[in-house]
Amino acid sequence: MTFAALWRELEPFGRDQGTGGYRRYSWTPADTECRAWFTRQAGNLGLTVEQDRNGNLWAWWNPKAAGRADAVVTGSHLDSVPDGGGYDGALGVVSALAAVAELKAGNFNPERAVGIAVFTEEEGARFRVPCLGSRLMTGAIEPEAARALSDDNGVTLAAAMTAAGCDASLLGPDEDLLAQVGAFVELHVEQGRALAPLDAAVGIAKGIWPHGRWRLDFTGRADHAGTARLADRKDPMLPYARTVLAARRAAADSGALATIGKVIAEPGGANGVSSAVTAWLDARAPDEARLEKTVTAVRSAAMRYSAECGVTLTVRQESYTPPVHFDQGLRDRIEGVLAAAGMDAPVLSTGAGHDAGVLAARIPTAMLFVRNPTGVSHSPAEHAGETDCEAGVHALALVLEDLAGRP
Ligand code: GLV
Ligand code: MN
Ligand code: MN
Repeated sequence: MTFAALWRELEPFGRDQGTGGYRRYSWTPADTECRAWFTRQAGNLGLTVEQDRNGNLWAWWNPKAAGRADAVVTGSHLDSVPDGGGYDGALGVVSALAAVAELKAGNFNPERAVGIAVFTEEEGARFRVPCLGSRLMTGAIEPEAARALSDDNGVTLAAAMTAAGCDASLLGPDEDLLAQVGAFVELHVEQGRALAPLDAAVGIAKGIWPHGRWRLDFTGRADHAGTARLADRKDPMLPYARTVLAARRAAADSGALATIGKVIAEPGGANGVSSAVTAWLDARAPDEARLEKTVTAVRSAAMRYSAECGVTLTVRQESYTPPVHFDQGLRDRIEGVLAAAGMDAPVLSTGAGHDAGVLAARIPTAMLFVRNPTGVSHSPAEHAGETDCEAGVHALALVLEDLAGRP
């Protein structure tokens, strides 16, 4: 089973014909198609597929040794951001299947169990908490809080899972499953452009910047666009707009990143002053001090502007991921394996979040990045060349062979 053949099969699911971007939101029909595709392909490889209590999929290559203790697991996610690229997440899953196919074709016989995981709601595009499947598994979010998360239409995670035929009452920490995983290695398309100038097809992750999401609710008063005097208005759009600029300024001042990429104006009439504006701030920085400084600056600016406009403001943190430092021993071992195969893989840090970052709090974890020539991601323009993807598959196969080849 080649990388190209797997890729072609997965490619159409959840793709918007107009934008060319992906809308693979968790627990929707597009997600169901992706899950069915994975289950079928893993089955073709002779793997046993199970869904865990949190909706994550696990495909197992049974080891010579009985049981699954100390398993070597790879994988990623199949959900997407709105109009996301085809590689974010999907590349890691397709590469995992192709790497196992390569190892099986070479008659490799693992000493340790090998697993492929597909984590649910990694992007938080529907229920707003990223890496939800791995957070639930590791106990980083309370199951009760997760069940109550709702999408933009008010559908809760519990209701969405139930509609998809899953039992949301089972959500929660999965210590038994975690105890079986000895190492997790996630392959991911590079997000940013560090590998291209270094002329490297594959890189290794060092760490992930701390990052989080904050919800800002600006509440004003709906009014008539043609009659309400400017001085009499309580227009939440004004403090919101000024806050967007303040976020940009605060990030630049701190060497951080701050983005308001999602906004909902209510009731949404073109000829009316809005009653409320809800905006989401995504902030990331090389360290927690700079992140906190950035968010504090944005929050204070938003409060000041709201008060000036007669608007009330509430700010709530919806998710937070502390800094991640991937396991040094695992990273060194991977570097050695790739170097021995003539692959010089640079070590990079990233501002992008990953399930590997969440799992890193509990198990030795590493990541491989595959060169993204433009660096663009979370966009239909995201790309990786086929030759680089194949190099990524081979690198992953070498790493799995090394890790699973020794007890
Ligand atoms: C995931 O892609 C994130 O970093 O938001
Ligand atoms: Mn992403
Ligand atoms: Mn991703």
